[in-house]
Amino acid sequence: MLCLRTLVPILLGFGLLVSFSHAQQSSRDIRALYTELCANCHGENLEGGSAPALLGETWKHGGDDASLARSIREGNLEAGMPAFGTAVSEKEIRGLIVYIREKGGQAIDRRLPVPKPEAVIESRLHAYRIETAVSGLREPWSIAFLPDGRVLITEKRGTLRIVEKGVLREEPVTGIPAVDSGGQAGLFDVVLHPDFTRNGWIYLAFSDPQQNAGGKTVCMTTIVRGRLSKNAWIDQEVVYRAPVETFRNPGGVHYGGRIAFDRDGFLFFSIGERGRQQDAQSLTVPNGKIHRIHDDGRIPAGNPFVDTPGALPSIWSYGHRNPQGLRINPATGELWEHEHGPRGGDELNRIQRGLNYGWPLASYGMNYNGTPLTEVTTRPDIEPPVTYWVPSIAPCGMAFYGGDRFPKWKNHLFVASLAAQKLVRLELRDHQVVEQETLFKGLGRLRDVAAGPDGFLYVLLPDRVARLVPATSQ
Ligand code: HEC
Repeated sequence: MLCLRTLVPILLGFGLLVSFSHAQQSSRDIRALYTELCANCHGENLEGGSAPALLGETWKHGGDDASLARSIREGNLEAGMPAFGTAVSEKEIRGLIVYIREKGGQAIDRRLPVPKPEAVIESRLHAYRIETAVSGLREPWSIAFLPDGRVLITEKRGTLRIVEKGVLREEPVTGIPAVDSGGQAGLFDVVLHPDFTRNGWIYLAFSDPQQNAGGKTVCMTTIVRGRLSKNAWIDQEVVYRAPVETFRNPGGVHYGGRIAFDRDGFLFFSIGERGRQQDAQSLTVPNGKIHRIHDDGRIPAGNPFVDTPGALPSIWSYGHRNPQGLRINPATGELWEHEHGPRGGDELNRIQRGLNYGWPLASYGMNYNGTPLTEVTTRPDIEPPVTYWVPSIAPCGMAFYGGDRFPKWKNHLFVASLAAQKLVRLELRDHQVVEQETLFKGLGRLRDVAAGPDGFLYVLLPDRVARLVPATSQ
């Protein structure tokens, strides 16, 4: 006969076995997991029910990642919260935290108003209006201001446009290289040489279609420079083209495509990992890296991997997923970058020589297919992000503001975003984000933000360039 004393351990053991096998499965969908395990008490949309809401307005047991993980892992049985430490794996706990933060962030975002044309928008430090500066564009990607007042704008589809006296020239610039523009590919950054007034060099980054040894068209991010003569691109030189055997299929994802010159005239540029996660960790391929070269493409002797056998000598930092923001902070001379991470793992980084930024070994995010990615958010050998965004914003383009029209924004960092359709302002101090504010959302996918020489802030909307101008409140 089975008495209770023997039955209990058997049942317990069976329970443990079941839980253990659950913890072994790593690809459970996080939303389904939440619905199955948590929604009964916390509500389908985390709005609360028999248990408190998980939208982040208040946290009884602490709201940082470690505290949330502890609440889920250990529970608080007396108060009615079961312990899930044996039922879900550590990476699923990480996924649940991303999910909880996404829902909280989305609840905040829903309360943000979408700005009306010409309306005065009150933000924390300045009231402003959004004006149209240039209309008639198609997916503008980057903007550069020439000293003579003309403005250059790239469009993703592979066209370079000139704005003269505020008017967009109908004819795109002739003679720029052929561009692959399927998927996330296209014509990316346009940046002037720091000594442009003397040498006239303009730099472009783009998805470059080439033939591989088998005669197939393959693509990778390439950097060229050239000069403008009226409406023509002339004197073109290839400044960086990766070995063709490292090129990948056209279209697809993760090209990077930003260019930045530092104070010493070195040229930095970004290439995303092209959807090949592990490549970001390999020094033998160009994707998933920030590179540093001289303005004419020569490799600087001081690059970190010039003496590493097999390594591409242009690599400056690695472990990047898709860096679509790369700018020098003019106040400090430091290189800053942001990148599209996995879901809930978009990062802001300060780029330093030779460091590993972790993708895909460590991340705060989860997979876009809804499954967990990793519980490893930091590692001693990996440079942590300055900050990360949950929910993801899909950052594209950034600018340090140095103008005088918005004095309280001086030296703040502005980040544009695709998926979240937001313009975000960040105040940095000692390499930390001390304040972050969404200035507006809901005007479409933003691909770049730039501080104009006139002190206004320019933002690239899907069909136009908008300009933020100060407004007196009331
Ligand atoms: C049987 C009901 C129940 C289930 C199922 C449940 N919870 Fe809870 N949970 C609670 C209660 C009740 C509390 C409040 C405990 C307290 O007051 O200390 C709580 C608290 C929490 C807290 C801490 C909140 C705070 O303010 O600090 C977190 C985080 C949490 N739950 C997450 C989850 C997740 C994730 C799941 C699913 C994996 C889950 N809970 C499933 C009832 C539940």
